[in-house]
Amino acid sequence: MTSVPATSALPSVGFVGWRGMVGSVLMQRLQDEGDFARINPVFFSTSAAGGAPPSFAAGTGVLQDAYDVETLATLPIIVTAQGGDYTAEVHPRLRAAGWTGLWLDAASTLRMEQDSIIVLDPVNRSVIDAGLARGVRDFIGGNCTVSCMLMGLGGLFRSGLVEWGTSMTYQAASGGGARHMRELLTQFGALHGSVSGNLDDPASAILDIDRAVLAAQRDPGLDATQFGVPLAGSVIPWIDADLGNGQSKEEWKAGAETNKILGTDTRIPFDGLCVRVGAMRSHSQALTLKLTQDLPVSEIEGIIAADNEWVRVVPNTKAATVTGLTPIAATGSLEIPVGRIRKLEPGPEYISAFTVGDQLLWGAAEPLRRMLLIATGNL
Ligand code: HSE
Repeated sequence: MTSVPATSALPSVGFVGWRGMVGSVLMQRLQDEGDFARINPVFFSTSAAGGAPPSFAAGTGVLQDAYDVETLATLPIIVTAQGGDYTAEVHPRLRAAGWTGLWLDAASTLRMEQDSIIVLDPVNRSVIDAGLARGVRDFIGGNCTVSCMLMGLGGLFRSGLVEWGTSMTYQAASGGGARHMRELLTQFGALHGSVSGNLDDPASAILDIDRAVLAAQRDPGLDATQFGVPLAGSVIPWIDADLGNGQSKEEWKAGAETNKILGTDTRIPFDGLCVRVGAMRSHSQALTLKLTQDLPVSEIEGIIAADNEWVRVVPNTKAATVTGLTPIAATGSLEIPVGRIRKLEPGPEYISAFTVGDQLLWGAAEPLRRMLLIATGNL
């Protein structure tokens, strides 16, 4: 065991997996909001224990060994974005060693455990507070698509207005990870490269270009290691494991996590198809909701807009939609735009909606950052 330097009376918080994509966004958000001034951070590493701490946290002491359970157990709070394998290996050992601290985790491993809470405090602060009061110790970030959906449409769910829903998703490459984003861009480049000469020639035939692009997409030499099949210029209508019942694990999560986050007594049926598209880091989804009442669209919009300070209703016009309701518009922002809200032909209780959210912000880092503030009495 290494003794962790207690540099202040502030609560000590161990960080694991702060260098990866979600971890980096989390570190940036903590810096942007001045949160490091509220805690005593201790940085862990799975590969470089003894090394220098990150430059943004100079003076915090050397990196600790992320597999050293005795050292981890000295901390009252641990935040990890190291991934599911790390959680599966270290969390049981820590608990077996008698550690009673708070475990805040971006990975899905513990999400559906009976003794864990999925954190999304603008939607389920009461569930979080009740959990803390009864001694829950594991607080887990939700599936990115579910978190972004509930940040946008939580008002309708929390008002008891949703009888059932479907969500058809358009999920960005970042949901797979950093290497998936790189692969998508490499594929775009390869496809462009295969026809760049023809593209420069305005007289070239588009069907010749199309044929050449298709040949490049079907070329076994095109790197598709991460996604398994090419994504650039295509879509992949399956995300995560095959559960063997026709449903993907990502689709199962939509219903399971939505209900767990909301703490519903009676399950709200919620299901749909999850599709990977060539967006970079914002997930979109098209929803059909069966409401329990026939409400005017203006009232529905009002309930959605009033739910939290980040949701933004986009008027259902072409101009507002194409500029404000896209991954390009949503990326890098904590705002969750919701638009395309209208009544559908099957009946006045059936509405459509479309929402987009930065998969790395509300979809991953921000709920964890805010849970850390809650855990330290700062929110
Ligand atoms: N499972 C999500 C996806 C990302 O593949 O897009 C993490 O929630």
